[in-house]
Amino acid sequence: MDYRGHFPIFKNNNSVYLDNAATSQRPGCVIDAVSDFYAYSNANPLRGLYDLSMKATKKYEDARKKVADFLGAQSPSEIIFTRNTTESINLAAYSYGDEYIKEGDDIVISVMEHHSNLLPWQRLAKNKHANLVFMEPKENGVIEDDEIENKIGKQTKIVAIAQTSNVLGIENPIERIIERAHQMGAVVLIDGAQSVPHKKVNVKELDADMFAFSGHKMMGPMGVGVLYVKNSIMEKMKPFLMGGEMIEYVTREEATFAELPHKFEAGTVNAADAYGLSVAIDFINKVGYDYIEKKDTELTQRIINGMQAMGHITVYGHEDPSKHNGIVTFNVEGVHPHDVSSILNEDGVCIRAGHHCAQPLMQFMKVGSTARASVYFYNTSEEVDKFLDCLSKVREVCGYGT
Ligand code: ALA
Repeated sequence: MDYRGHFPIFKNNNSVYLDNAATSQRPGCVIDAVSDFYAYSNANPLRGLYDLSMKATKKYEDARKKVADFLGAQSPSEIIFTRNTTESINLAAYSYGDEYIKEGDDIVISVMEHHSNLLPWQRLAKNKHANLVFMEPKENGVIEDDEIENKIGKQTKIVAIAQTSNVLGIENPIERIIERAHQMGAVVLIDGAQSVPHKKVNVKELDADMFAFSGHKMMGPMGVGVLYVKNSIMEKMKPFLMGGEMIEYVTREEATFAELPHKFEAGTVNAADAYGLSVAIDFINKVGYDYIEKKDTELTQRIINGMQAMGHITVYGHEDPSKHNGIVTFNVEGVHPHDVSSILNEDGVCIRAGHHCAQPLMQFMKVGSTARASVYFYNTSEEVDKFLDCLSKVREVCGYGT
């Protein structure tokens, strides 16, 4: 199957794009959806009592239904639209955490978290004099059962963990983590930013209490994200941002708040991008997760095999390519990852280099930074080969023998 033709950027640009974990590319239908919203349905949603505003509202609320079905949520009212995963997690930490975390409680995360699933909990732990506890993986990236049992205990009130690491690509044992957390009476937030683009998620089957993801990594627009929260938990949460549209009744001194989930969506909402996200969901469903996972594994295997054949390359994480979810993090001996990325850029190859917003993981791995190639289903084996060919010359460019 060739889905490349759906992506205008590949017609307009010859780059080999291997930075999909940072942001994916978008198919024409998503780009058109955003433009069509403004061309044919634009008015301030949720406010106007005239047809055009109601049309905008319908697009926005239909998008919420689409997201709810996509995640297997019980009701669209469990879906809060945000700007991105970062905002979703901050919302959870303020609206749930500030209410229910007390001095001496444990908030459990892992050492692999993206800063967006670390800093909101750091703030909360500091303010409340609570403990931030880190689960640690083995060298292959796997968090084992005894680590889960040791770290999640009776004091644990919140567990927040990525389903898939943005650095190692490894999938965390979230079923086991959720089960243990619930046995201990804790609430669990799953950061799905790197999982949702690559694998089918069902929040009800997982029994996740909260689940966050971004549109832009799964072919949706930048600037729209989602926080799923079980209704029974959302009912107990205080508002995050205060302002228009999140209220029911306001006096000079007091306010009562709108029904769920609108209480958490203050100000003019991002209806155009929510609609764009719903079209991205249609596209992902059309491609199918079976195909996506197959391509992820094929391309990852090709990258790892090529790197192993080359020598002077350290690949981090699991030895099994199917456990990388399209992400290969590596270092070239003697060459700084920024130089690796800049040299590849000369040949039009786009990869990410640095700490990947996961500095505690870099400290745990005892590296300053790494390079990262990340694929998506529209990448080709020819692109991988070009990347490997350019990579094989990096040490030479830096003055080493081959
Ligand atoms: N979170 C994105 C990444 O890992 C930006 O690159």
